[in-house]
Amino acid sequence: MSSLRDPKNRHDVFFRKARDAGYVARSVYKLEEIDRKLSLFRPGQRVLDLGCRPGSWMQYARQKVGASGVVVGIDRLPMPAPVAGTRVIIADLLQTPDAALLVDLTAFDVVLSDMAPDTTGIRATDQARSANLFEEALGRAERLLAPTGGFLGKIFQGPDVQVLRKRMQARFSDVRLIKPAGSRSESTEVYLAGKGFHP
Ligand SMILES: C[S@@+](CC[C@H](N)C(=O)[O-])C[C@H]1O[C@@H](n2cnc3c(N)ncnc32)[C@H](O)[C@@H]1O
Repeated sequence: MSSLRDPKNRHDVFFRKARDAGYVARSVYKLEEIDRKLSLFRPGQRVLDLGCRPGSWMQYARQKVGASGVVVGIDRLPMPAPVAGTRVIIADLLQTPDAALLVDLTAFDVVLSDMAPDTTGIRATDQARSANLFEEALGRAERLLAPTGGFLGKIFQGPDVQVLRKRMQARFSDVRLIKPAGSRSESTEVYLAGKGFHP
């Protein structure tokens, strides 16, 4: 977790940049970098953020989609503070039906997942847990995205990455594997991004 409340983040350049810009976590710079490369957002879009706490991705998405857009987040832990102009569901995604995410919407234009598992320190176990969360997020994207929509999901590096990348290539016209600069060098996390969803 890269919350600004976590003491280990306090001397990090991304931490200070995030704090000065009013973002609640340094993770925003991973999303910003990926968005600069891929142009994930447009005004008016409906965005679903899976694993949204403490909310820096929602802050960023909110700015990008503007007042005519909608940002819905879900996290199993309560938010430290509300993110203005967003809807948040506090629940485990694995126990949450699609209808509860949609509420009054018919689909989303962008699905994001920065979900991370509780880690054990055992690499294979942590990778498998991360891959399960990624697969859950991708499944939601496959069911809830509107045509041409985009998906971005975090996964720990391991054998599942290529399998899931192939699955994405069957449903998205442009799929990329990205390790953003804002991602800590000791972390095995990478992001798979897909644009141009075809149901
Ligand atoms: C790295 S943090 C997300 C940071 C966020 N992108 C931001 O910028 O503020 C990952 C989050 O995923 C959440 N998470 C993990 N598994 C989840 C699940 N099954 N359902 C809902 N949230 C989950 C954790 O509670 C945690 O808050």
